Amino acid sequence: YIEKVIAREIFDSRGNPTVEADVILSDGTMGRAAVPSGASTGEREAVELRDGGDRLQGKGVLKAVENVNTEINDALHGVDPLNQANVDQIMIDLDGTENKGRLGANAILGVSMANCRAAANYEGIPLYRYLGGTHAELPQSFHNVINGGKHADSGIDTQEFMISPVKKESFRDGIEKIANVYHTLKSVLAEKGYETGLGDEGGFAPRLSSTEEAIEMLVAAIKQAGYEPGEEIAIALDPASSEFYDHETGNYKFEGTEKTPDEMIKYYEGLVDKYPIISIEDPFGEDDWENYAKFTAAVGDKVQIVDDDLVVTNPAIVREAIKKGCGNAVLIKLNQIGTVSETLQTIRMAKKNGWTVMMSHRSGETGDTFIADFAVATESGEIKTGAMARSERVEKYNQLLRIEEELKNTAPVARFPHSVDFD
Ligand code: PGA
Ligand code: ZN
Repeated sequence: YIEKVIAREIFDSRGNPTVEADVILSDGTMGRAAVPSGASTGEREAVELRDGGDRLQGKGVLKAVENVNTEINDALHGVDPLNQANVDQIMIDLDGTENKGRLGANAILGVSMANCRAAANYEGIPLYRYLGGTHAELPQSFHNVINGGKHADSGIDTQEFMISPVKKESFRDGIEKIANVYHTLKSVLAEKGYETGLGDEGGFAPRLSSTEEAIEMLVAAIKQAGYEPGEEIAIALDPASSEFYDHETGNYKFEGTEKTPDEMIKYYEGLVDKYPIISIEDPFGEDDWENYAKFTAAVGDKVQIVDDDLVVTNPAIVREAIKKGCGNAVLIKLNQIGTVSETLQTIRMAKKNGWTVMMSHRSGETGDTFIADFAVATESGEIKTGAMARSERVEKYNQLLRIEEELKNTAPVARFPHSVDFD
């Protein structure tokens, strides 16, 4: 049973405080997890509890830590760690709000993930096995190699320019190709006189003039590295358009002009026709359901449309998006909803309805590699966790390399009896 739950304040990749939690079992087994934090957050995300006041720019998480050490610790003492759904439900009930605003989603998620680890350690199996992985498929990776929007001061409105190895022999082969393109991109940018400093997710943050210029750089880098754009390495975008969406007018303040939703649709269609773009995330504002539906009807058969801020990993909102035909893929960020169990519910629902699932890091990360195991366990199909730089990003890919190696050396296993109920 769970003996004790402890949390502490640690720091994330942007130097901001975040929660780390330990779950200690009665036999001494321990599990530890750390919570990430976003910059371009969705309005309906679960609440990240911050202290306010003067200390650490008001971003301290000592209240969330205290909530773990007192209330959550008391509520979970003596509880069976192998029943993840129960552990999560106890915390949801204890919090008592719709958005985990009382105890903090950062407090609750830290414990939720740490409990999975403690349980996996107790059973002596890898986390991806414990989280439900049986055939355990490695995901297609998406790497944000040019950072804009809120993740850099590069001045580009589009937040993420990703590349993905669509043709590869193995996960490792895909990662090698991406590393080659990443290094080539650096010299392509440098040759043109651009800065090659990095943004929050490890991508370069050059002061390019437009989204289209950034895409041109990617195409050039892919070719120069010796790959066929589209055939071997494809491009994906996350404009994170809630950040330049005008709620009042319903228009988009994009690259120096004000664009109507119809103009945005045309603009995206133009990009998809011209470049090897396979996926666009958050093309419209987080309450612009109408244009999500319009855009999906227009190009949904040609390109993946990923819902992030629109649905915030919330099973109820994802259900609505599926019903309304808004998008055809869902981005999964554990801290948008706040427990492992609810995240699993979202993934299950998306898959059942034929949607693609993309596991995701946040722009503020830690060394925790939970999402790598989680992506394999749930066979999410896709993962985005940054460029081939900055350890908090690369460590997730490294964990996937380790898992791939392990899977090569083990026959498919039956579902472990106490595994988190995924299917
Ligand atoms: P965030 O951005 O982690 O800063 O919210 C990531 C994304 O928009 O996908
Ligand atoms: Zn996004």
